[in-house]
Amino acid sequence: MTFLDIHSHILPAVDDGASDIQMSVELLGMLKSQGVTAVIATPHFYPDSDNAEDFINLTQKSYVELQSAISQQDLPRVFLGCELRYFSGVGKSSAIKQFVISGTNYLLLELPYGAPITKIVLQDIIDINERQGLIPILAHIERYNKVSGYKKLLKLIADGYAVAHINASAVVSKETARLCEKLIKGRYVTYIASDTHSPDFRPPQIDKALQTIAARLGELEYNRLIVKSNRLLQEIEAANEQ
Ligand SMILES: [Fe+2]
Repeated sequence: MTFLDIHSHILPAVDDGASDIQMSVELLGMLKSQGVTAVIATPHFYPDSDNAEDFINLTQKSYVELQSAISQQDLPRVFLGCELRYFSGVGKSSAIKQFVISGTNYLLLELPYGAPITKIVLQDIIDINERQGLIPILAHIERYNKVSGYKKLLKLIADGYAVAHINASAVVSKETARLCEKLIKGRYVTYIASDTHSPDFRPPQIDKALQTIAARLGELEYNRLIVKSNRLLQEIEAANEQ
C-alpha cells in the first residue's frame, strides 16, 4: 500500500515544526511505521509577516538538506509544498502560484482560526480555482465548524471549487471524532493528513485515523481516502517527471 501525507511540518528549522534534521528524520520514521510512503512538507507561509523570496530560498535550502540526509535511508519520499495562510485578495494574486504543491496546481490553504468565513473569503476561494486555475486544498476544515459561514464553505467544496482535508489527530480525538465522521460521510473530505509538527506537538497518527475510519465508517470510505491519496501522489510524480 502507498499513502501520501499531504500536510506536515517536517522541514528542519523553517517554521514551528521540526527544529532540526534529527527531528525531521524521527517524524519520517514515525510516518513510515504508520504506512505512509510519501509526505508533502508544507511549512507555514504568513503573507503578513513573511517575505516570499526569503521563504522560498529558506525552504528550498532546508528541503535539499533533508533530501541529502535521508537519501540513503528507507524513509517516505518527501515533496515540497507550503501551507499558505489566507489573505484578503488571495484569489486575485497570481503570485500564489509559487506556493503550489511540488509542480502541481494544488494549493494548501489555511483559513484564519476562529474568524468568520465571509463572502469575501468564499469569493477568494472561488477565484483561486476559477481565475488562477488552481485547486485549493482547504486545511483541517474540522477547525472551522463553529464559525459563521461554515455551511457555505462546505457548499463550496460540494460545488467543486475546492477540496479539503481533516487532521488525523481530529479523527482520533473524542471531541472531534463525530464531526469528522459527518464530514467524511458528507464527502467533504478528500484527504486525511497528519499536520505533524514534532513527536510531542501533534505527532503523526495516520494509522490510527485510517483504522478508526475503517471501523466506524466501513471499507468504502476507507478505500476512497486511500485512492484519493494515491491519485494525488501519482499527479505529483507525473508533475515531477516533466
Ligand atoms: Fe499545518
